[in-house]
Amino acid sequence: EEAAQEAAFDATVAADERIEPRDWMPEAYRSTLVRQIAQHAHSEIIGMQPEANWITRAPSLRRKAILMAKVQDEAGHGLYLYSAAETLGASRDELLDKLHTGRQKYSSIFNYPTLTWADVGAIGWLVDGAAITNQVPLCRCSYGPYARAMVRVCKEESFHQRQGYELLLTLSRGTDAQHAMAQDAVDRWWWPSLMMFGPPDDESSHSAQSMAWKIKRHSNDELRQRFVDICVPQAEALGLTLPDPDLVWNEDRGHYDFGSIDWTEFREVLKGNGPCNEQRINRRRRAHEEGAWVREAAAAHAAKHGKAGR
Ligand code: 3HC
Repeated sequence: EEAAQEAAFDATVAADERIEPRDWMPEAYRSTLVRQIAQHAHSEIIGMQPEANWITRAPSLRRKAILMAKVQDEAGHGLYLYSAAETLGASRDELLDKLHTGRQKYSSIFNYPTLTWADVGAIGWLVDGAAITNQVPLCRCSYGPYARAMVRVCKEESFHQRQGYELLLTLSRGTDAQHAMAQDAVDRWWWPSLMMFGPPDDESSHSAQSMAWKIKRHSNDELRQRFVDICVPQAEALGLTLPDPDLVWNEDRGHYDFGSIDWTEFREVLKGNGPCNEQRINRRRRAHEEGAWVREAAAAHAAKHGKAGR
């Protein structure tokens, strides 16, 4: 019986069709999806912190409104993704507990500080730009709920990326001090953004299996290269330089060659030794504690009126 179920699973994946929650799936397929979707969701909600730092400091009402909308979107992305993880039997409480106790990760990128207003632009352009490059292929992931969540997320990420680009363009064309602030932010966010795509392919423990299951459609290095190729002309249009003297067009490869990434820094950040790891996780734990009364009230209301109750 299980052999027939495994054959059906393999045939569905091979045909580029979707595995749905009620379908049989290998336990390892389920657990790697819970791992990836949970950490994706954790990244979204932790990612609210660096930008939220600037909501009360935005230079205009327009910029404040855009930034509030973006941070609210990130919370919503977390919601879609925790809901996708629940279809695999992983409860939100259990996943948040793993985040709070360091048993699950969130993206390294959010362990860097947002020192100036220009960082909001660099995050939109580079971090959300990298997220789009990584998330568009995930719209074709073999697991239905994850792929469908990504379609909506990608639409909203495009707005995030455009507003960041436009913010940097405004600063770059502003006073010398504003241009310098934009350049400083790009200098600080460029290399950590390349690390978002994960370790080099030959050090990626999950890639081979994730690609066989069509969860990951392109390798870490492939998507990183795609992102670099997109950013170089955009940086030129912004009038800003990318902080990599080895960046050069390689006609033979049809891609930009770029300098080596500091994987020691990457490993240190993953170990918890980044600039803001402690601050981010403490803030997250405190937000969870402060929200306990809301969860209790919602649960009491649901119990009193039954699930169907409004
Ligand atoms: N930060 C933290 N951990 C990372 C990482 C990063 N940038 N890159 C890789 N890792 C971890 C992996 O999670 C894995 O550890 P684990 O076994 O404890 O989970 C280990 O390093 C080995 O990496 P692999 O390449 O083998 O792991 P994956 O096959 O899972 O690939 C990934 C890593 C490309 C990040 C993949 O998990 C993925 O595509 N995830 C979905 C996208 C995502 O999580 N994006 C977060 C970016 S922020 C964001 O989207 C918010 C937006 O609003 C800006």
